[in-house]
Amino acid sequence: MVAPFIVNIHWISFLVEAYNGGFKMTSQHIDSKWFNRRQFLKMAGCGTLGLMAGGIMPVSARSASGSDTAGVSEVGFAPDLDITMRSQADTVTLLPGSATHIWRYRAEVNKGDRNRVINLPGSYLGPIIKANRGEKIRIRFTNDIPEESIIHWHGLHVPAIMDGHPRYVVSQGQSYLYEFEVKNRAGTYWYHPHPHGRTGPQVYGGLAGLFLVSDKEEQSLGLPDGENDIPLVLQDRTFDRDNQLVYVSGHHMARMIGFLGDMMIINGQPDYTLSVATSSYRLRLLNGSNARIYRLAWQDGRPLTIIGSDGGLLDKPVTREDLFLAPGERVEIWTDFSDRPVGYETAMVSLPFDPGGMGAGNQRGGMMMGGGSRANHKLPIGSNFSVFKVKTTRTGKKSRPLPPTLAQIDSPNSNKADNVNQPRRFHLSMGHMQWTINGRVFQMDDVADNEIVQLGATEIWEFSNTGGGMMPMMDMPHPIHLHGKQFRVLARSGVRHNSYVDDGWKDTVLLLPGEKIRMMVNFDDYSGLFLYHCHNLEHEDMGMMRNYYVRGESTT
Ligand code: C2O
Ligand code: CU
Ligand code: CU
Repeated sequence: MVAPFIVNIHWISFLVEAYNGGFKMTSQHIDSKWFNRRQFLKMAGCGTLGLMAGGIMPVSARSASGSDTAGVSEVGFAPDLDITMRSQADTVTLLPGSATHIWRYRAEVNKGDRNRVINLPGSYLGPIIKANRGEKIRIRFTNDIPEESIIHWHGLHVPAIMDGHPRYVVSQGQSYLYEFEVKNRAGTYWYHPHPHGRTGPQVYGGLAGLFLVSDKEEQSLGLPDGENDIPLVLQDRTFDRDNQLVYVSGHHMARMIGFLGDMMIINGQPDYTLSVATSSYRLRLLNGSNARIYRLAWQDGRPLTIIGSDGGLLDKPVTREDLFLAPGERVEIWTDFSDRPVGYETAMVSLPFDPGGMGAGNQRGGMMMGGGSRANHKLPIGSNFSVFKVKTTRTGKKSRPLPPTLAQIDSPNSNKADNVNQPRRFHLSMGHMQWTINGRVFQMDDVADNEIVQLGATEIWEFSNTGGGMMPMMDMPHPIHLHGKQFRVLARSGVRHNSYVDDGWKDTVLLLPGEKIRMMVNFDDYSGLFLYHCHNLEHEDMGMMRNYYVRGESTT
């Protein structure tokens, strides 16, 4: 049993010691800098409740404490962009025939530039939110779907209380207030729900959107912009004969593998053709699928010119024949169609690969899907399939050459780590028909000894997907994601494939069975409770997720 090794961090200890924004039980802190009075009273009330109960504060008690807005409003926070966001039930016409019932985010700008929120007509995706590094963002989120939810800003470096931890879920009709400064480099980030056990179905239902950050460094490069800067969200879905979404069957084995749809949906639309000019493009690819891993390549054999990954631009462009894009990962591709005639057609395809163990079933697609789906749309089994088509439809402006240097990024120096000789180790395996991390599954407020990090530390974390050894057939690929931080990949061993983009700053890395990864991450400013987990959303929902706790007082 794992229980004896788990330190149960008590709710009250978060409040007193390290509540994510630098919370201290001293009145001048509370009244001046971090909290307004209402929020303070609310939190103090919760603390007392938790203390009296002698245990973990039930989430519902927090929401029931009088106000309908959870989260923290900082006194004097002057947002550059103030948005209202809602998750709600809606319909969208995706296929001929009946409209499809979906869940979606809708947003409205209350203050700031209206062009920073871009709705995608004919799509179920949430709007694209655009921000510049250094700007302050306020998001008033109201959950209007009939179950608990909360928004997580995937890849953004925000305080723990703004990160959308599942303990902050709000139920239907209730709100959560987000206020944070955009500290990330320019890049392609995204947002999606994060309630425990329901992230998979909520993302699948349509709740996801992009959060694009720009900065001066990026703007000085003259990269393709405007209509030549195109985000592409890759998702797979299954529809029934009445055009309604079909999620993974309740069968335990199907959930152990994760949801695999039988049809590609790009930017929330089926049969996607990207219509381009004979010019150069910046394509920002997000794998927003629940469990499907893509091995992307251009159908016409041209190499992929990679300019960015999860945390923004690489120092230099990198060229590859093909690349893995696992759930949660982003990659930015530069491509020039100016040497092709108008009318030229190609496609972004996904190539077959052997993911090992149980994953073999995984990537062959659809095998666990029951009957009743639109059979003619099955993604081909064990072979190439088209992810989206590309067609040159017009003559474009002359393309600029791609700069040889894109960004200043220091190469990671593992000697700077505080635990250089003793990496923190995380072992991925299956125990009792559950995916686990160091033998443990998620529990809302649990942090084990090896999951407590000192604020200010720079550490090496090692993840191994080398299984329990007992049943190698039961291993699977796991895309591992850290909340709150971008990290650098130092090394990958046991490599099965050469298709990884481990370059640049990352927040999600894929480990195929047998592989091990070392990453370097520094915990420099925000304390509090953050998550790390597998981004196969069914694995995550089943508990392949843990907390890590940064101990100390936030410095910003
Ligand atoms: Cu994109 Cu915790 O997730
Ligand atoms: Cu995340
Ligand atoms: Cu996993």
